[in-house]
Amino acid sequence: MSVLGIIGGSGVYQIDGLANVRWQKIDSPFGAPSDELLFGDLDGQKLVFLPRHGRGHKIPPSELNFRANIDAMKRAGVTEIISVSAVGSLKAELAPGTFVIVDQFIDRTFARNKSFFGTGLVAHVGMGHPVCGRLGDAIAEAATEVGIAAKRGGTYLVMEGPQFSTQAESELYRTWGCDVIGMTNMPEAKLAREAEMCYATVAMVTDYDCWHPDHDHVSVDAVVKVLLENADKARALVRAVAPRLRHGPEICPRGCHRALDSAIITHADA
Ligand code: ADE
Repeated sequence: MSVLGIIGGSGVYQIDGLANVRWQKIDSPFGAPSDELLFGDLDGQKLVFLPRHGRGHKIPPSELNFRANIDAMKRAGVTEIISVSAVGSLKAELAPGTFVIVDQFIDRTFARNKSFFGTGLVAHVGMGHPVCGRLGDAIAEAATEVGIAAKRGGTYLVMEGPQFSTQAESELYRTWGCDVIGMTNMPEAKLAREAEMCYATVAMVTDYDCWHPDHDHVSVDAVVKVLLENADKARALVRAVAPRLRHGPEICPRGCHRALDSAIITHADA
């Protein structure tokens, strides 16, 4: 049975119609997740929310325990994860307020635990298509249904932070063809793949980073302002996407739920 996990900010889980709501602590051998998980039912679809930075936004990107977060979601029975994330825009046409259903990532993070595997059990999962196309389709259809203009496809550059980029970095990422920039979706997407869960991102553009000659450089105040303005849209999108997954297949036809079948290299008898 499909269980939809949402990783995002506090605005996303205050959804009208969410029933049987309860917060529950989930232990993980990888350490403490960012917070308790919020369980609920929406139109017959089971949902599990995780505030990525903890309630009250207490954990910076580099200190997020991504492995514990994904492991806790897996233990909660989550089969599909939608990440709802604030990003800066690297393209003039992606103005603040735009939603982008990204389909690629460039991972420039360097100070994070990126795998559940390691010495003793070595695995190399495929990441050619880091986003589940089926989940992306469901998000795109839901966006159309509720009248949200969402761009389908785009490359999200994940930086380490916590400082924002220099202008030279921002310009460099633009020459690479990146569309948006943020600090949180890697190694989240890699770990979701290792945990054999579908993963997709709704990237909410909040600023033009620091490259646009006609716009102020990014600041936390600007990011929060745009996020608050778009919280209703994000909630409406989650509300519309949830029932679409209820009728989905048990096993993802794109292979997300079988990602380890061809990934483990360590011999069982070694
Ligand atoms: N999150 C929101 N805006 C951002 C930006 N410009 N750079 C990195 N992360 C962000």
